[in-house]
Amino acid sequence: MEGPIPKHVAVIMDGNGRWAQKRNLPRTEGHKEGMEAVRRVAVRASERGVKVLTLFAFSTENWKRPLDEIRFLMKLPIDFFDVFMPELLKNNIRVTVTGFKGKIPGPTRKAVEKAVEQTKDNDGMILNFALNYGGRAEIVNATKEIAQLVKSGRLNVSDIDEATFEDHLLTASSVTPYQEVDLMIRSSGEQRLSNFLLWQNAYSEFYFSNLAWPEFNGDVFDEALSSFQQRSRRFGGL
Ligand code: IPE
Ligand code: IPE
Ligand code: MG
Repeated sequence: MEGPIPKHVAVIMDGNGRWAQKRNLPRTEGHKEGMEAVRRVAVRASERGVKVLTLFAFSTENWKRPLDEIRFLMKLPIDFFDVFMPELLKNNIRVTVTGFKGKIPGPTRKAVEKAVEQTKDNDGMILNFALNYGGRAEIVNATKEIAQLVKSGRLNVSDIDEATFEDHLLTASSVTPYQEVDLMIRSSGEQRLSNFLLWQNAYSEFYFSNLAWPEFNGDVFDEALSSFQQRSRRFGGL
C-alpha cells in the first residue's frame, strides 16, 4: 500500500451485541465473534506497518451492563490470549494494556499481564488493549498526579505544559512515543467518541464503518487506511 500509514490507529469495536441480536443469538455470541475480528485486524495492521493499534475492549461506563455480560467480557481476554498468543508471537506483536487495573478481576488481570510479559521483547506493532478505560477519568487521574507533584514541591505550576500532562496519561506507559492518535475507527454506524482517548484524539482523522465489529476484516481496515491517505492534515496551519 502506497502513501503514509498512520502510526497510531485506535478502534472503537462497536456493534457486537446488535450483530448477535439480529441473528437471534445472545449478545455474548457477538463478543465471541468479535475476537476473530480482533485477530484479523491486528494482523493486517501489523502487516501495513502501523506502530500502535489501540482497541477499546471495555470502558469505565461498561460496568453499567448486566452482570452476566460483564463477566463474559472480562473472560474474553483470557480466551483471546489462550487461542491467539502463537499468532501474536509469530507476527512480532507486543501486547500492552491501558486502563484502570483496580476493578479488573484477578484472573483477567493475570492473563493480560502474562501476555504483556510474553511479548515484551517483540519490537513489531504494539497491540494495546484499552481495558476499563475512560478518557475523563484518565484526565482527572493525571490532574491528581500533577497536583501531588506540585504539593510536594517537585514541580512548579509554571512548568506544567502539554508534555507534562502527557507524561501522566494512562497511555504514557503503554504506547510511548505514539500517544497521539492518527486514525480513529468506529464500527457499527455510531458516530461518537464514547469517552475514548479524549486527549489523544485531539487531531485524529475519523473513519466510521456501518459494519458491525464481528463483520470487520482486513479489507475494511485497508479502506480506512485509504481514506486516511486522502485527508489533508493541517493541524491548524496552512
Ligand atoms: C462493543 O459491542 C463491545 C463492547 C462495548 C464491549 P457492544 O456490546 O457495544 O454492541 P452493541 O453496540 O450493543 O451492538
Ligand atoms: C464503547 O462502546 C466502548 C467499547 C467499544 C468498549 P459502547 O457501546 O459502550 O458505547 P455507547 O454506549 O454506544 O456510547
Ligand atoms: Mg455498543
